[in-house]
Amino acid sequence: MPKFYITTPIYYANDVPHIGHAYTSIAADVQARYHRLVGDDTFFLTGVDEHGAKVEEAARLHDTTPQAYVDAIATHFRQAWRELNISNDDFIRTTEPRHERGVQAFLSKMYERGDIYRGVYEGLYCVGCEKYVTEEDLVDGLCPLHLKPPVLYSEENYFFRLSKYQDTLIRALQDESDPNHYVVEPAARRNEVLGKLGVGLSDISISRASLGWGIPLPFDPDQTTYVWVDALLNYVTAIGYLDDVPKFQHWWPANLQLIAKDILWFHAIIWPAMLISVGLPPPRVVFAHGYFTIGGQKMSKTLGNVLSPRELVDKYGADATRYLMLSEFPFGTDGDISLRSFTARYNANLANDLGNLLNRTLSMINRYCGGLLPAPDGDETAGDRDLQSAARSAFSALDSGIRSLDYLQALDGIWQLVNRANKYVEENAPWALAKSDRQRLGRVLYNLAESLRLVALAIAPFMPSTSARICEQFGIEAEAGRRDFSMAAQWGGLKPGIRVNPKPTPLFPRLDTE
Ligand code: MSP
Repeated sequence: MPKFYITTPIYYANDVPHIGHAYTSIAADVQARYHRLVGDDTFFLTGVDEHGAKVEEAARLHDTTPQAYVDAIATHFRQAWRELNISNDDFIRTTEPRHERGVQAFLSKMYERGDIYRGVYEGLYCVGCEKYVTEEDLVDGLCPLHLKPPVLYSEENYFFRLSKYQDTLIRALQDESDPNHYVVEPAARRNEVLGKLGVGLSDISISRASLGWGIPLPFDPDQTTYVWVDALLNYVTAIGYLDDVPKFQHWWPANLQLIAKDILWFHAIIWPAMLISVGLPPPRVVFAHGYFTIGGQKMSKTLGNVLSPRELVDKYGADATRYLMLSEFPFGTDGDISLRSFTARYNANLANDLGNLLNRTLSMINRYCGGLLPAPDGDETAGDRDLQSAARSAFSALDSGIRSLDYLQALDGIWQLVNRANKYVEENAPWALAKSDRQRLGRVLYNLAESLRLVALAIAPFMPSTSARICEQFGIEAEAGRRDFSMAAQWGGLKPGIRVNPKPTPLFPRLDTE
């Protein structure tokens, strides 16, 4: 059985979750659910990044201790993911002992390898970014992302010999037969990384002498580990690095590490170099998706346009939120979202296309067939075959869309089936067949119900509860598909004679447009 280990970034515990975080977590959840569905041995990790100056500052502003502060924030994240039906297998917090032990073990190894040395660092540090910046990064003396001046740091630190890995990383990225080969996607991001690598790499400071809120270095407890080094290691400490060797060997390397473009450098350069330093392979794929704005504006506290996952879940429900976030613009590019367009697409694609298809089908089976699913007797027409072929295409679009992180392709394939089925209703006019041709009526209604069963199966990774609700209408088990996905995806799974729900309620009640 193939294994699939997928991760999201661990989000900063300096504030509550927003829909930027939800975007990555939903995308990762769709991957995890799909891989489980097709039978892969899957492990899905997410968590929170709890150390560093940024979190310490937030705790101070809230008049509390960093630990009490991150405890509260971690609860918010867990709750948000529950509300969005995120099916992570683990949730790591960087203040957990299992993580702290793993970080120290990893750093000791890097130290033994001679990749860490002591030196003096003086530089400008942006607390918001948790990284050193250069004069060129600033606009009018301020960090353009956080609109705050950086702080001048000068202290004795420990450094990682990142510069040593320049050629190793270039080879690992370019040569598929290299033992350290890894992939950065989309291609534009890979080129960006290769371009920067070509220019050269500087060693990076990996500790702080003046910051108490962090993990002490194993070889010098007066210094704490740089928050990014600490955070990146979550991907191995969560799966038992040096703590549970069989578990670690089972899952590492990660198959897919999802991030956004803002943290590409850390994941595509620093992280692989750290792994290679201790003799571990880099992740197989690092995929950096784009950033979205809301109504054309960057999401920011100052603008007051930060949306929480709960606001969307309250308005649209968890499943529709998941669907809407991933169908608004292509994954991998930047985009814009707005409540206006969410509501419009909710009404058009969910309430109308899918919701009505289900409603019409159930009510016709109830009205014309006493609620019992008829058998597909009589001859097959070209239209019947066309519907079946739309179902086959939906599953191939689903598979290739998910595997290439092209969620629009996957959803588009499924909606082509939904639309084909709606057109099939019009073409066959079951209301007329009810008077003229009962046999043909039976086949048409069977085919519609069967299309819906397949739609329910295909949307399961995106909209797990909706998938289950559709199955319930036909009295079939939602998990049925899971036992053998490729069998379940074949046409003809529904058994004639089953009783459908006599009183269906709409899947997606229509919303007022704004
Ligand atoms: N703690 C670090 C990550 C450490 S991982 C070893 C961090 N945290 S963060 O809270 O700032 O999260 C950044 C991530 O949140 C992005 O990479 C992306 O996954 C997600 N997003 C935050 N805002 C977003 C948008 N506006 N659009 C898309 N993704 C967004 O960086």
